[in-house]
Amino acid sequence: MLSTASGRLLWREVTLFDGQQQLPEPMAVLVEQGRVAALWAEKDFDPVLAVGTEEAGRGGVMTPGLVDCHTHLVYAGDRAVEFEQRLQGVSYEQIARAGGGILSTVRATRAATEDELIAASLPRLDALLADGVTTVEIKSGYGLTLEDELKMLRVARRLGTLRPVRVVTTLLGAHALPPEYVGNSDGYIDLVCQQMIPAAAQQGLADAVDVFCEGIAFSPAQCERVFQAAIAHGLAIKAHAEQLSNLGGSALAARYGALSVDHIEYLDEAGVRAMAESGTAAVLLPGAFHVLRETQQPPIALLRQYGIPMALASDANPGTSPICLPTLMANLACTFFRLTPTEALAGMTAHAAYALGHKELGRIAVGAPADLCLWDVRHPAELAYAIQAGRLRQRVFAGVVTYVR
Ligand code: NIG
Ligand code: FE
Repeated sequence: MLSTASGRLLWREVTLFDGQQQLPEPMAVLVEQGRVAALWAEKDFDPVLAVGTEEAGRGGVMTPGLVDCHTHLVYAGDRAVEFEQRLQGVSYEQIARAGGGILSTVRATRAATEDELIAASLPRLDALLADGVTTVEIKSGYGLTLEDELKMLRVARRLGTLRPVRVVTTLLGAHALPPEYVGNSDGYIDLVCQQMIPAAAQQGLADAVDVFCEGIAFSPAQCERVFQAAIAHGLAIKAHAEQLSNLGGSALAARYGALSVDHIEYLDEAGVRAMAESGTAAVLLPGAFHVLRETQQPPIALLRQYGIPMALASDANPGTSPICLPTLMANLACTFFRLTPTEALAGMTAHAAYALGHKELGRIAVGAPADLCLWDVRHPAELAYAIQAGRLRQRVFAGVVTYVR
């Protein structure tokens, strides 16, 4: 790690993407006490103000540290066999209904100890960090018992102590119906609402609660009960909604003030309008779209028309998005959904932070936490244009250079 006694670091002549846009001129950036202390256009740079600082870098593209606002990073096992089944024409839904899919990862995750889950998840986290992530959201949802869900959340929190990264955790108890509750899905929702949510809240293990609102998962009425319990325990709300069909889960979540609704390929205008009214972000997951070979496009034009913040995330998970290369998501979002590279980068920085309710992150501004990436590319758009690992020159977390290539 590179830090100075003064905690003052200076970058010169960087092309700066501030979380929303590329600034028109080369910039100098001063970091002090973990925060961005000053920003200058190079032509206005005042060397007196920077006396005693260490020059940490020159040239390159600087962006906010990437925010991966939707992952299922903690799990055991893999689903390579299902990948082959899907290539032979079996659908994700058919695999799920036959007891595979999410439930196959549940079996492996239940059998794993916390240390085993840490060991399985760290390489995935390291891959995200090596591609510029400084904040990552991690969901539970492969435990589906009180103890196994809490175990996953503890592992997620521990990951944040083992690496220089901000971890935001989400309880996704309502991810799939566990085998013990077949024929009694309302009984399982009771467990989520009456035990999982209160315990996760009391133990400080979850920042938010998520649901999978879908024919193969939970109904809008069941998700509504989960939202009510989350609110009663002071937790934020998110939803996997409108991924495979339109059940109106996004509008429902928005009515409960959800931070974000995620996937949303089948979202309609009524849903978008509800999101606009509640300030709910749209999280696009082009990795899952790609892996499931989906054709239904999320309603990008409507999201733009209503001014909905569009975030992008890896959705890193063993089934629908076994991908730990966040910059690939920028490329896929442009290629599949026709986002502009600027929209894609905002989607992985400022808008992703918004989707987590952390508006102070994902941007480069005086006073903001100094989570920064310095990339060896010529323009910010190149991060979306080219698919390439290893372009990160420096990663700065809370004002400390934690990675240097
Ligand atoms: O975001 N849609 C539901 N959940 C995950 C997939 C989880 C899995 O298949 O293991 C998703 O795509
Ligand atoms: Fe997901």
